[in-house]
Amino acid sequence: MLEVRDLRRSFDGFMAVAGVSLTVPQGSISAIIGPNGAGKTTLFNLITGHLKPDSGQVMFKGREVTGIPPHDLCRLGMGRSFQRTNIFPKLTVFQNVQAAFLCHRGRGWNLFAPVERLYLEETEALLDSVGLLAKAGEVSGFLSHGNQKQLELGIALALEPEILLLDEPTAGMSGAETRETIQLIERLARERSLTLLFTEHDMEVVFSIAQRITVLHQGRVIADGEPAEVRRHPDVRRVYLGEKHDR
Ligand SMILES: Nc1ncnc2c1ncn2[C@@H]1O[C@H](COP(=O)(O)OP(=O)(O)OP(=O)(O)O)[C@@H](O)[C@H]1O
Ligand SMILES: [Mg+2]
Repeated sequence: MLEVRDLRRSFDGFMAVAGVSLTVPQGSISAIIGPNGAGKTTLFNLITGHLKPDSGQVMFKGREVTGIPPHDLCRLGMGRSFQRTNIFPKLTVFQNVQAAFLCHRGRGWNLFAPVERLYLEETEALLDSVGLLAKAGEVSGFLSHGNQKQLELGIALALEPEILLLDEPTAGMSGAETRETIQLIERLARERSLTLLFTEHDMEVVFSIAQRITVLHQGRVIADGEPAEVRRHPDVRRVYLGEKHDR
């Protein structure tokens, strides 16, 4: 589904992503982990077209998409969420998802219908599946942080992605919210046959749902493989997992 080849990007001479290669098989759930500043968000931005790489390639569904702008990648089936939530805070929950449908599918043949009458059923169904139907009428900016991240997921899904890149989907959540969100993401991925690539700080989350893990450190891949392999890797234990995971 996705292949990254020797991707590099520096900022004022500082190599944030220093030659990263990885593959994400179709239908898999893969995680990218690494300490703060390891280059995870930069790598996501390079893959999704929010940043241009200095060198290297991004292949998506067998074609090269390096440097293609985000909206074109989105149209090809690549969706993402952001580490800091990216919603319209003054719109209601319903309007946020409805706007995403409108944006993605356009007005269709409904040239004269007011936009607020379009995609009502689709929006409702999607809000239901991300667990926000009861909050459809609430102003998004007043939602709890956890609900805002759920909403962001809804917005991303309205764009009908085949692969979804989630940058710290549980950032800032309580333990209970984190577990709920992860179950939700896992269910949505299964129901929609999505390929998932996510970054995450919570190791419990990573080891519970990822089928493959890539570990970044100072812009480079230091380990890549199945969770059990990665957990055993001496470099990973040294730079990342630390004492906590020694048992
Ligand atoms: N636009 C930018 N200009 C300058 N430096 C940047 C820029 N974006 C990222 N960096 C630097 O690149 C490095 C990697 O940052 P990045 O945000 O990709 O890390 P991360 O792994 O996502 O960290 P975190 O876990 O904190 O989210 C950091 O040292 C950061 O300061
Ligand atoms: Mg980040």
